[in-house]
Amino acid sequence: MFLAYELLNVLCDGKFHSGSILAKQLRVSRVSIWKGIQHLESLGLKIFAVRGRGYRLASSVELLSSAKIQQQLSSTVSQQIQRIDTPSVVSSTMDYVKDFALRRLPNFSVCVAECQTAGRGRQGRRWLSPFGANIYLSLYCQFKALRYGLSGLSLVMGIAVLKALETYGIPLSLKWPNDIYYENKKCVGILIESNYSSENSVHDVFFGIGININQSLSGEPQIGTSEYEVLQNSTDLKQILKYLPSRNEVIAKVLNQVIPHLNEFQEKGFQPFVEDWSKYDLLQGRSIKIIRESNSMLGIGKGVNERGELLLEHDGVLKAISMGEVKLQVQMT
Ligand code: BTN
Repeated sequence: MFLAYELLNVLCDGKFHSGSILAKQLRVSRVSIWKGIQHLESLGLKIFAVRGRGYRLASSVELLSSAKIQQQLSSTVSQQIQRIDTPSVVSSTMDYVKDFALRRLPNFSVCVAECQTAGRGRQGRRWLSPFGANIYLSLYCQFKALRYGLSGLSLVMGIAVLKALETYGIPLSLKWPNDIYYENKKCVGILIESNYSSENSVHDVFFGIGININQSLSGEPQIGTSEYEVLQNSTDLKQILKYLPSRNEVIAKVLNQVIPHLNEFQEKGFQPFVEDWSKYDLLQGRSIKIIRESNSMLGIGKGVNERGELLLEHDGVLKAISMGEVKLQVQMT
């Protein structure tokens, strides 16, 4: 639906535009404008239609631009990222970057989409991804001859994204393994998927980063909720900062942190990041419930070890909990 994107280019200022002027401007009928509006709404955009005034987006939106992202990359990072695709609608940016791997495109190729129709979260959850509201970014990365394996990698990604957002002067914390929280509300979720080829000892890793920017742009229910998370409310950068940050700027800041962190992880593993983690650890000293299939275990969060495993003190004994095997609840006191 090409017209819908042309329409969006006009509506993105968040101001009213009359249907007849839009029709003239885009050289189509008013019915086509109405159909274009319906298509944008089906992608999750909230649009007000007021008789006599026309159409307006619930709030303004800056569309994604690979040129604007590239311009704000540091020179070393810019040399390492050869490709940033910004498709409008994809099933999931994870599927998009998996295709990069099949085509053996360069390491650190990036996809950031306006909208995902089948965005996915951890543990098989859905990740709601309405058009233009948030950041849906995936990065393809090849790790060769990893001396320390992949353990802790997903925590490193959380640390890197947090450091990027911290440059906006906001206090954030990390909930193991890599959710980013602001005042007990989730604002970033991270997903990691990987393939390993024993033939050439290469790990193809696909990182997915979902950053909430402006949830009010869509009429959809909000992300980051689930029945087992007590800290279930989500928030976004617009609510935290009290202004709408540029999505292109946020993406560049994230890439400027993520690439050097991944380079360091490739060389040294997770060990150098343990101290960083402890600065931001939301679970340190808190009462947590680990849920493994039908069993659960209560304990106190005691940080992470050099493999990135969560340390839980249970009945005076320290247990290391590894990724992927648990669901986790923070007990409210
Ligand atoms: C979580 O459950 O907290 C992880 C959410 C990860 C969402 C991102 S958005 C970009 C990428 N594409 C997806 O389908 N998921 C990840």
